[in-house]
Amino acid sequence: MYEFQSSMIEEQDDSFEEERVLSRKALREDSEEPQLRPRRWGEYFGQEKVKANLGIAIEAAKARGESLDHILLYGPPGLGKTTLAGIIAHELGVEMRITSGPAVERQGDLAAILTNLHEHDVLFIDEIHRLNRTVEEVMYPAMEDYALDILIGKGPSARSIRLDLPHFTLIGATTRAGLLSSPLRDRFGLIQRLDLYAPEEIALILRRYASLISVGIDEDGLRELSTRCRGTPRVAIRLLRRMRDYAQVRGDNIINRDICEMGLSALDIDHIGLDGNDRLIMRVMAEMYEGGPVGLDTLAASTGEDSVTIEDIYEPYLMQIGFIAKTPRGRILTKGGFNHLGLPFIDRNTRGANTEGQISLHDILDSENKEHEENC
Ligand SMILES: Nc1ncnc2c1ncn2[C@@H]1O[C@H](COP(=O)(O)OP(=O)(O)O)[C@@H](O)[C@H]1O
Ligand SMILES: [Mg+2]
Repeated sequence: MYEFQSSMIEEQDDSFEEERVLSRKALREDSEEPQLRPRRWGEYFGQEKVKANLGIAIEAAKARGESLDHILLYGPPGLGKTTLAGIIAHELGVEMRITSGPAVERQGDLAAILTNLHEHDVLFIDEIHRLNRTVEEVMYPAMEDYALDILIGKGPSARSIRLDLPHFTLIGATTRAGLLSSPLRDRFGLIQRLDLYAPEEIALILRRYASLISVGIDEDGLRELSTRCRGTPRVAIRLLRRMRDYAQVRGDNIINRDICEMGLSALDIDHIGLDGNDRLIMRVMAEMYEGGPVGLDTLAASTGEDSVTIEDIYEPYLMQIGFIAKTPRGRILTKGGFNHLGLPFIDRNTRGANTEGQISLHDILDSENKEHEENC
């Protein structure tokens, strides 16, 4: 069995995120989660392709009596990377040790973790793109040869000795596969990307969770929450908890359409699941930059948000629903985005004499292709 440590919710320290119920990152209120996390495949809904690939790899490794290949999981926060790592360890019947990129400061820290693993154990490193380079170098021989090179002494008399490590499986999680150095990325045998969930999949997650926290939810309630959580289980679960409070106070303890309408509008979440911050970003693009293109840093400065937050938290969903598009010259607000704000669409192609900012379909496809290649 594996144990989840309290360090799992280390992301919660971001004070801005604490205020935002639609945040994908873990917040303090999510802390009773570890006990409720899915532990078996049957409790992990969606991501069928990823599950199939991992299932085969696990079976094969078990049949050969070998450790599982190193696995890299990537995708926006809250989509189930940590949960998946736990299920893999559970399926393998091994222990999982959890740490994160920023927590491993020195080579010695990593050496201590590695030498304490048992044969076939899983080492989960969250935010693995934040490992520093010197620590990362220790990781290479560890992943490739299950060996630790230690330097003893200093100067000319220094010599290196090699320690054998148990055959372990590294599971790295990152929101940005593109930020991983290529030597590190190349050492993963299996790289899997998690996608945003479809509403039907979120509904299954919510149904399971509602019964775990003893609150009723009807079909309307499921539909409301599963379409307003930006395709993210962590957000869906958080909304469910908030709606449970409303359902309790109202007395019947069932989350239905009325409860969702009341609760979600009190939280300023609109009918497609955008909150005030999403709309602020879109509004800035529309009103200050005539729909763009606007660079990420400019957008960050104009909205008072940091660029990483915009890129990791807001953009993926706004792009998925087609309100924002990425172009080589920056982000643009699409016609759908203007419509959602109730503003008249400013068409870049017919806008004034400013042909500088004009973008062709070719540019857009080109940037998408480039991005796709980076991710692969
Ligand atoms: N596929 C899924 N099925 C059921 N619950 C899920 C699934 N993915 C995520 N969850 C729930 O969402 C929460 C957030 O998932 P987590 O693994 O912490 O995301 P990440 O590590 O990608 O940020 C978990 O507590 C878990 O209960
Ligand atoms: Mg996580």
